[in-house]
Amino acid sequence: MPSIVFVDHKGSEREIEASVGETLMLTAIKNSVPGIDADCGGACACATCHVFVDPAYLDMLQEPGDMEKAMLEFAENVQANSRLSCQIKSSTISKACALRPRKINSKSLAAHA
Ligand code: FES
Repeated sequence: MPSIVFVDHKGSEREIEASVGETLMLTAIKNSVPGIDADCGGACACATCHVFVDPAYLDMLQEPGDMEKAMLEFAENVQANSRLSCQIKSSTISKACALRPRKINSKSLAAHA
């Protein structure tokens, strides 16, 4: 089983076993990882699943598609390692560090408490 490391905005790490073929977003949602909202349910239409991928693992991922690139243009704090977690399947990686880049809202703060 792929193992994914999620890193929150405070730097705390949480390693989660993912099902093969499952997206990083779905793994995060199923395990109540704070900061990944996935408002569109994985339709590549909201960018609320935006994460930073550890650069050491970027080359293991497929290139982002045109829809993902377009959505990232509207995301906040986009960096070279920004991806939409709903577009990354765990079968393509064994580990990836993900960090919520958007401003933390009250919902996320409550989840961190
Ligand atoms: S869940 Fe909406 S773009 Fe990923």
